[in-house]
Amino acid sequence: MSLKALFALAVLASAVVAVPQPRAVCSQGRVASNAACCTWFDVLDDIQANLFDGGECGEEAHESIRLTFHDAIGFSKSLIAQGKFGGGGADGSIMAFSDIETNFHANIGVDEIVEAQRPFALAHKVSFGDFIQFAGAVAASNCDGGPRLQFLAGRSNNSQASPDLLVPEPSDATDKIFSRMSDAGFSITDTVDLLISHTVAAQDHVDPSIPGTPFDSTPSSFDAQFLVETLISGTLFTGNGSNVGEVESAQHGVFRLQSDFEISRDSRAACEWQSLIVNHNTMVTKFENVMKRLATVGHNPASLIDCSEVIPVPKAATFGAPTLPAGTTLQDIDASCQATPFPTLKTDPGPATSVVAVPPS
Ligand code: HEM
Ligand SMILES: *[C@@H]1O[C@H](CO)[C@@H](O)[C@H](O)[C@H]1NC(C)=O
Ligand SMILES: *[C@@H]1O[C@H](CO)[C@@H](O)[C@H](O)[C@H]1NC(C)=O
Repeated sequence: MSLKALFALAVLASAVVAVPQPRAVCSQGRVASNAACCTWFDVLDDIQANLFDGGECGEEAHESIRLTFHDAIGFSKSLIAQGKFGGGGADGSIMAFSDIETNFHANIGVDEIVEAQRPFALAHKVSFGDFIQFAGAVAASNCDGGPRLQFLAGRSNNSQASPDLLVPEPSDATDKIFSRMSDAGFSITDTVDLLISHTVAAQDHVDPSIPGTPFDSTPSSFDAQFLVETLISGTLFTGNGSNVGEVESAQHGVFRLQSDFEISRDSRAACEWQSLIVNHNTMVTKFENVMKRLATVGHNPASLIDCSEVIPVPKAATFGAPTLPAGTTLQDIDASCQATPFPTLKTDPGPATSVVAVPPS
């Protein structure tokens, strides 16, 4: 045997025996690739039972998904370039410094979920930054047809309060939102992909007289209904008329944010928005990919431990292709992507219906 062949054989042999996979047996016989992940199985059991009402995609789940964004987006490359503190990104500062950050105007309402989550983070002795991203990932997995988000653990529990004015407002012009998102590392396409989240969402504070009013007709399904319904020409205000950050929606009981309206029709964003309507798997994958980045703003992902195995596998989607609400037709769609025609969708049969809000408990 030549020296070269011997060497090749040795490499092969070492590849087979070396690199033992670290493996840990956690509570209830669950297996983790890293012992540091075991604690997250216990957090999972606790929050599914006691925060998410037995694994629902309800109000607390929606708020937990929102909180992942409001913590992480507190990061500014331009502030850092000016020699100022630019925020630590997904660092838990919104919980550690809730007395400061939940008073920022754009964070209106997040104090409730911060205070609901805090006792769980303290009881399990995990960092606030890890907890917020973990709870958001578990929350999303509870939604019908939801994503299975990556979860990396190991964010430091030390943070500083984020500077104000880094969280976008629904009344902000698209240029302002896009430049803010870019300053945090997200392109226009990324921003559209992040807004898939608004398919499992409702508002409480833009029009406080109608809390629990959803952004689409199916707020516990991780479907494309939000993307379709937001593109229908607005004809009515759900609730008491125009509030700052609100525009007319197309259905009684559905609330439309000005920012969602404008982004969905913006020539730089419209084709990405429309493309997500056609294929559920593509939509979910895009959300999973962009959320990997949101969850690690301000961190080096390579220095964190992959505990994604703890995130439940979501139930398969129980819905079919998105539809046009009863009473609407393709003529009502503000098709805004010049490059490709709007996809053909079926219209729900019957007269126009009203979506019933679920006010917060
Ligand atoms: C482009 C910037 C964005 C703006 C201007 C925006 C604005 C808003 C507003 C005004 C609300 C209603 C809050 C209330 O009245 O209670 C809301 C809800 C929500 N947002 Fe966003 N959002 C943006 C991006 C995102 C992102 C990136 C995510 C997550 C990845 C997200 C997730 C949610 C969720 C899940 C809710 C529903 C919360 C609930 O039902 O309690 N949003 N958003
Ligand atoms: C994280 O920091 C908070 C204070 O901001 C503290 O109350 C909590 O105990 C800390 N958690 C851990 C795991 O160190
Ligand atoms: C809308 O405003 C009117 C008058 O200000 C008030 O009487 C009514 O209760 C409001 N509706 C809701 C749903 O709060």
